[in-house]
Amino acid sequence: MTAMIQAVRGFNDILPPNSHAWMFLEQHLQRIAAQYTYLQVRLPIVEKTELFVRGVGQVTDIVEKEIYTFQDRNGDSLALRPEGTAGCVRAALEHGLLHNQLQRFWYQGPMFRHERPQAGRYRQFYQVGFEAFGMADPYLDGELILLTATLWRNLGLSSSLRLQINSLGTVASRTAYRQRLVDYFERQRDSLDEDSLRRLTKNPLRILDSKNPALREIIAQAPQLLDHLDAESLAHFAEVKRLLTAAGIPFEVNPCLVRGLDYYSRTVFEWVSDELGAQGTVCAGGRYDGLVEELGGKSTPACGFAMGIERVLLLLEQKNLVPTATDVDVYIVGDGPSAKVPALLWADTLRTRLGLKVQSDCTVASFKSQFKRADKSGACFAIIFGEDELKTATMSVKALRGEDFQQRMSYDECLQFFQTHIKTVSS
Ligand code: HAM
Repeated sequence: MTAMIQAVRGFNDILPPNSHAWMFLEQHLQRIAAQYTYLQVRLPIVEKTELFVRGVGQVTDIVEKEIYTFQDRNGDSLALRPEGTAGCVRAALEHGLLHNQLQRFWYQGPMFRHERPQAGRYRQFYQVGFEAFGMADPYLDGELILLTATLWRNLGLSSSLRLQINSLGTVASRTAYRQRLVDYFERQRDSLDEDSLRRLTKNPLRILDSKNPALREIIAQAPQLLDHLDAESLAHFAEVKRLLTAAGIPFEVNPCLVRGLDYYSRTVFEWVSDELGAQGTVCAGGRYDGLVEELGGKSTPACGFAMGIERVLLLLEQKNLVPTATDVDVYIVGDGPSAKVPALLWADTLRTRLGLKVQSDCTVASFKSQFKRADKSGACFAIIFGEDELKTATMSVKALRGEDFQQRMSYDECLQFFQTHIKTVSS
């Protein structure tokens, strides 16, 4: 036998009934995007590698270890996008959407990172991202966090997620702090692990993010960025906190929250769950006032976030918060070829006139096996087109769950019947 080909590790199929949960969440996301007046952008999955090297940062894990790159037939170095922000800025700049304009965009789709796969961490994963441009004031940061808090409330997840925030200040204030941090960690050099030693020269702030318990004490004693912020960044952060407090959104200031991408300045935030094991960050983002300029545009303030769809879904499923779907309302059974045509046409009438979810049995199998399938379909009702029905221009409507009900009806009566039963059927 020929060997079967399996999917690549870390790349998942999304199949029914799980795909129903995806659609349920996507509907919530579309609604919230519309309510906050974010407009959808659909961006390419492949970009020039340089976009991420410049955008996300040369010495980030994403660019150093995780990005999928390849040379195309022209010899250009291309990448499967590891995240959506850089591409969104590239597209907005390319199409002249940023200069002197205020913009609110959102996107969804697959991202790719060569990480070690485990529950909640995949090599192809899906993000929904929101990015807003042209607004420097802290109220935008606040609005974005409010949006996420509203989404958790709508989904029933508020009690499962904690908000952590921090401010990374401006590039200038961070550079001064960076030197203090390097001096501090240099004195602790002997206690640092391999990862931290590597970061010490390249990206010392990331040491603060280390998950190694052996470094916890050293990190706790390290100078804190919040103590070295410039006055404007401090005032900006204070205003974000004031808004969150006024909105009744609990938050924790985590001075070690530095994020793994280089483009952030000032506010950064993460929504974290304790119910997902090691992959607890469900949604993350912040302000990135320098990125547009870094990518060749005029200086434009910006702020955004992205959430990992799989992680939100894991939470929803753990908590049983995805409503079960009625995939089929009515199953139509037809006895022999002569019944199939009226049966199929009637199925379409029920779909267009009443919006019902109707599955037609498209085989000429025996009545018995068609009924078995009707039962298995989960439908509430079957409609039967048999020989007698055909002769009298009627059909039989039979309840498949609960009550014992079967009745011969004319076409009009059938419409009326489902019009009155439509709530019970579709709920
Ligand atoms: P990020 O923190 O790299 O930020 O990713 C955002 C979210 O994507 C994470 O919190 C997590 O839920 C999800 N995620 C990341 N990697 C994986 C993975 N391998 N498997 C499953 N889920 C994953 C960004 O990507 C920024 N672009 C966010 C942003 C937008 N900042 C400003 N605007």
